[in-house]
Amino acid sequence: MSDRPMISAETLVKSFGSTVALAGVDITVQRGTVLGLLGRNGAGKTTLVRILATLLAPDVGSARIDGADVVRNAHAVRARIGLAGQFAAVDETLTGRENLELVGRLYGLRRHEARARAREVLERLTLTAAADRMVITYSGGMRRRLDLGASLVGRPLVLIMDEPTTGLDPGTRIELWKFIEELVREGTTLLLTTQYLEEADRLADRIAVIDRGRMVAEGSPDELKQRLGGDVLEVRSAEFGDLDRLVSLLAGLGSGRPVADVRGQRVTLPTTDRVATLLAAARRIDEAGIQVDDISLRRPSLDDVFLALTTRPEPAGAARLASVPAEPAPPRHVSA
Ligand SMILES: Nc1ncnc2c1ncn2[C@@H]1O[C@H](COP(=O)(O)OP(=O)(O)O)[C@@H](O)[C@H]1O
Ligand SMILES: [Mg+2]
Repeated sequence: MSDRPMISAETLVKSFGSTVALAGVDITVQRGTVLGLLGRNGAGKTTLVRILATLLAPDVGSARIDGADVVRNAHAVRARIGLAGQFAAVDETLTGRENLELVGRLYGLRRHEARARAREVLERLTLTAAADRMVITYSGGMRRRLDLGASLVGRPLVLIMDEPTTGLDPGTRIELWKFIEELVREGTTLLLTTQYLEEADRLADRIAVIDRGRMVAEGSPDELKQRLGGDVLEVRSAEFGDLDRLVSLLAGLGSGRPVADVRGQRVTLPTTDRVATLLAAARRIDEAGIQVDDISLRRPSLDDVFLALTTRPEPAGAARLASVPAEPAPPRHVSA
């Protein structure tokens, strides 16, 4: 029983009208570990979170928290989980302390228990000094901490956090990471969704990459980096608009497909034979007369994995290359 997964889901499907938010998703999270669910906006993360938190029923498939079915045994599931969202769900007209005591009462704690639990949580999230101020006076980071605090009042076995640090400044984000790491050290099982590779890399034991409602990869951060196979050749283009040409030029070289990163104005290519790929790429680029700022070899980052595995959202009808910029390209100066 003790090696039963804390969170498990099989073939979850969920559609909203004609939008397929989840297209058959499986996940398993072992007790005391952290699964980072990594995906772009619209990938299906929140839909999965809502199903696991009993807020939404799947069309197909099933999920269990510590053995309890999220549909048939929703009550038992709610007693085991804490949910912290991207948008702080606290009452602004109450103080921090009042918010937490209210949550405790909703969990069915007696008044003195709720008070003690609130005090404990406020201390742990270093909100004691602000505890008796109305939440409306709190900074964004303090609100997010209070929201996390509210999910801890019930001392959950399983914590589900939906993009807990989206929109926070870097300092506050690191502070929140430390709280999360502390909770995990104490044995909490955590499912965390994020758009930040750095966050998944730092906090997660295993990472599942979700793209358009499907899991496209799963593994430890190191395994995912290794899946790219060796090193990465990176070519930085000097001109806007040359990325497509670079992608077709580099196709067939290296050990995988070339991927354009529009924001970084670069194309990356996985390679296992380093220098041979570098030389061949340089030759082709030179022959085509394309101006580049830099060509280099480096170890893969989680960013490369993400770019290689997920699709950039594109306007409907424009599904061509993975390299088509999502943002309109600036006016291009044409030289004859
Ligand atoms: N209540 C809803 N009604 C209609 N479409 C929805 C609803 N919730 C989510 N979707 C759609 O389902 C897809 C997945 O959304 P979501 O799970 O929120 O993704 P993420 O959290 O990864 O950004 C998106 O295309 C989104 O527009
Ligand atoms: Mg979401």
